[in-house]
Amino acid sequence: MSQRTCLSVILAAGEGTRMKSAVPKVLHPIAGLPMVAHVVKAAEAAGSGDLALVIGHGADEMRKATQKFAPKAETFVQDKRLGTAHAVLAARDAISKGYDDILVMFGDTPLIDPEVLSAARLKLAGGAAVVVVGFRTSNPSGYGRLIEKGGKLIAIREEKDCTDEEKKITFCNGGLMAVAGKHALQLLDQVGNDNAKGEYYLTDIVEIAGGQGFDVVAAEAGFENVLGINNRAELAAAEGIWQARRRREAMLSGVSLIAPETVFFSYDTEIGADTIVEPNVWFGPGVTIATGARIHAFSHIEGATIASNCDVGPFARLRPGADLKQRAKVGNFCEVKQATVEEGAKVNHLTYIGDARVGAGANIGAGTITCNYDGYSKFFTDIGEGAFVGSNSSLVAPVTIGKGGYVASGSVITESVPDDALAFGRARQRTLPGKGKELRERFAAAAAARKKG
Ligand code: UD1
Ligand code: MG
Repeated sequence: MSQRTCLSVILAAGEGTRMKSAVPKVLHPIAGLPMVAHVVKAAEAAGSGDLALVIGHGADEMRKATQKFAPKAETFVQDKRLGTAHAVLAARDAISKGYDDILVMFGDTPLIDPEVLSAARLKLAGGAAVVVVGFRTSNPSGYGRLIEKGGKLIAIREEKDCTDEEKKITFCNGGLMAVAGKHALQLLDQVGNDNAKGEYYLTDIVEIAGGQGFDVVAAEAGFENVLGINNRAELAAAEGIWQARRRREAMLSGVSLIAPETVFFSYDTEIGADTIVEPNVWFGPGVTIATGARIHAFSHIEGATIASNCDVGPFARLRPGADLKQRAKVGNFCEVKQATVEEGAKVNHLTYIGDARVGAGANIGAGTITCNYDGYSKFFTDIGEGAFVGSNSSLVAPVTIGKGGYVASGSVITESVPDDALAFGRARQRTLPGKGKELRERFAAAAAARKKG
């Protein structure tokens, strides 16, 4: 199979009006990745070396997005949407380069399993000219029906062109097809538009290929694989299915999820075995967690690297560039951004660490703030190994706290603190014996006088 060349043609020219969005439908994300990029990933996983994306609506935006998730894909514009066969032919230049296998997919079916694509390719390798991925449903309305005869697929009939008898068929076209590259163009070129919608139907190649004596087969797949997204309710449903799959995969790979249905992964989240994720945790893109970490409840984590045996949360926020080394702790109501928290360092309560390094074994007291921004630029705070920063301190960057440095609570530190030094950055305390009582009596008398007057 690996020797066979493969082009995937992904149709994404539709407007997706039912999304009611300024953003092209296929760019709406599932698990943080545009739905069409999920299709691209599946195609790549099934060994499709080359990709052709057929775009139309929002072409500029589509091209820009494609650069990010599929920089090697070629884009083709379908100016007028005259049907799925017409859309595939927009990629004629790519198809005519000559491939063993052509996969045709819709950009709005993000849950396609690469195994289904591989299975379809295998049937091409076995000599089929056209492979149609079908699914069974008790509610076939709106789908093209697969018409079989003697175990052979002889036609796909669109709902609008079906007889009442054909409408009863529950084996439907999922929209996904595999076509032998050497026949693809001649089959597509024969498709006409003499049907109820006046469109060039890709599905017509089934009958055309059969008429030429080619082998045409259906491959059955689970409904999820071909689930198309047309509105935001379906988008949320697909997200739910994706998350359920990913949670199961995480658990089977050794990650404990105490309440799996409350944990949300990103398309690229990586978590090592023996990590425990408590309820209500959100992973944005770019998170890598090694083994044995504990992510406590209600943490929000994106763009972060978490080494083994770290302890995060509850209610922690790790933002892009947060880099926690082994056994680091970031506790409740702490935010870490673009900062390294080195081995065994503790940032336990109510703290902001941004554009900083917290040295190994350092202890950051409750309410510490790295003041990294002056309204114009960002500055770095370097906290040395084993340093101790007392509670409620402001470290005004750029500033360095040396190795073993000690910052008194409530300090505003504007000058660097050398190794092993003790720094106070606060007003000296004055204590006046008896003055508390005197003050209270004075205030009470003043209040009484006001009441009388
Ligand atoms: C299509 C199939 C139908 C199948 C169903 C599964 C055809 C003729 N019908 O019907 O058998 O059961 O999908 O969901 O193929 N597109 C373009 N350009 C066009 C037309 C469509 O890019 O000119 C894209 C759309 O954006 C969409 C996809 O192709 O992503 C499918 O088009 P759609 O109009 O949704 O086809 P269906 O009527 O749903
Ligand atoms: Mg559709």
